Amino acid sequence: MENKENTYKHLYEQALSLFADESDCVANAANLVAIIHRTFHFWWTGFYRVVSNELVLGPYQGPLACTRIAWGKGVCGTALAEEKTIIVPDVEHFAGHIACSAESRSEIVVPCWANGKIVAVLDIDSENLGTFDECDACWLEKIVALLDPTSKVTTNEELYCPDCGAIYQKHDVFCPVCGNKIDKTRH
Ligand code: SME
Repeated sequence: MENKENTYKHLYEQALSLFADESDCVANAANLVAIIHRTFHFWWTGFYRVVSNELVLGPYQGPLACTRIAWGKGVCGTALAEEKTIIVPDVEHFAGHIACSAESRSEIVVPCWANGKIVAVLDIDSENLGTFDECDACWLEKIVALLDPTSKVTTNEELYCPDCGAIYQKHDVFCPVCGNKIDKTRH
């Protein structure tokens, strides 16, 4: 079986190529949730969006979930308030954990940033204890960062204008910075 690090590397590449062709954040978030969920067979994988200082359910895969979580409440609201990823090895030992499902035993919540603000959190629940560690935290942070429309991350091949070096999107015919027609044979 592939190790977790390699699985995340593959997921990262998959997300990168999915997002290169699509700029809609909701569509990208929905597909991201699907690939993470199907790859690891987690219990619940989804986003809560920051709306008027509370969290509101976004794209997800898994059983029915609570729709709103207040700032500072539960693992999700705590990750939002403390502006950091939270790993919960055993949900029974997290004071204030919100149990959307009795099956959930461990959890990770990763804030998603855009323009210097948290705009959503990625919440993942596992049926097993101690599923998540620093490897998950590190890779999930890198992967959700790809959703940030201001993110400059791109693949190393093919997406730099050969004339001025600016980043362009796969579907661009002309460079968005120098305006030259992109000669894709020059990469
Ligand atoms: N357990 C989360 C609530 C959301 S569900 O797990 C989908 C929390 O404590 O914030």
